[in-house]
Amino acid sequence: MSTALITGASGGIGKAFAQELAARKTNLVLVARSQEKLNQLADELQEKYKIQVEVIAKDLTETNAAIAVLDATKSKGLNIDFLINNAGFGDYGDFAERDGERQVKMVQLNILALVDLTHKFLPLMRQRRSGNIINVSSIAGFQPIPYLSVYAASKAFVLSFSEALWAENRQYGVRILAVCPGPTETDFFTEANFPQSFTGKTSRISTPEEVVRDALIALEKGDATVVSGSLLSKIITNLPRLMPRETLVNFLEKQFKG
Ligand SMILES: NC(=O)c1ccc[n+]([C@@H]2O[C@H](COP(=O)([O-])OP(=O)(O)OC[C@H]3O[C@@H](n4cnc5c(N)ncnc54)[C@H](OP(=O)(O)O)[C@@H]3O)[C@@H](O)[C@H]2O)c1
Repeated sequence: MSTALITGASGGIGKAFAQELAARKTNLVLVARSQEKLNQLADELQEKYKIQVEVIAKDLTETNAAIAVLDATKSKGLNIDFLINNAGFGDYGDFAERDGERQVKMVQLNILALVDLTHKFLPLMRQRRSGNIINVSSIAGFQPIPYLSVYAASKAFVLSFSEALWAENRQYGVRILAVCPGPTETDFFTEANFPQSFTGKTSRISTPEEVVRDALIALEKGDATVVSGSLLSKIITNLPRLMPRETLVNFLEKQFKG
């Protein structure tokens, strides 16, 4: 039986990954800060699917968080064959006026923790010549977004990094996928302090289960990237190819200005 480690498993897309993989009889390691939520989910999935579920309560913005997670899996005697780097958050607003520490924490979680965890688990997968890594990017990663500047840049990093790793690792039997969801029904928008007026404008919101389904189908096919969501989300990811970058960023500045 294989074992998947999922970051940000206490809610939203991460929790949906946990539920789907549990239903497919995959053992799980659930990582996030909210120990109680993780324990509750672990109990529920163990009971329902008769799988092994471990919980690691960890703030992934802490220095050395990734090595602590690796050590915790080793001490439990677990081999991780499937890593899902999903934990992340956004922050809506004018960069110069937003809390600076929060911007740095966003980079620590969305980028540094993802790179560090990948670097801890990927070599072990290559030694075994099998493994899967899903990195959760976003449609925000395809272009700069004013008032979501750090978030969009962090997701551009995840997309670029994942696609490069996809090409490097195919020959070693390790599949890497960047999943780029459009707007999805989770706590993301509340956590990111999006104005109510803005979230109301969003046309079609996916469920976390739809994102997970699209990601697992794309992984199975061996794709490097999948955009999950409405037709509009798919069109948005192609805009940088269709118009000059300044025109696009000016247009987005108007769209995102609260
Ligand atoms: N929802 C969308 O519209 C959307 C669209 C595109 C991409 N995404 C991406 O999808 C991923 C999942 O987000 P979501 O939509 O499911 O949002 P969510 O419901 O807010 O879930 C975020 C998860 O990340 C965990 N997390 C936050 N800070 C953490 C930290 N410092 N250390 C460890 N875990 C932490 C949270 O758990 P704790 O609070 O318990 O730590 C939670 O489990 C993110 O990378 C997000 O950028 C979301």
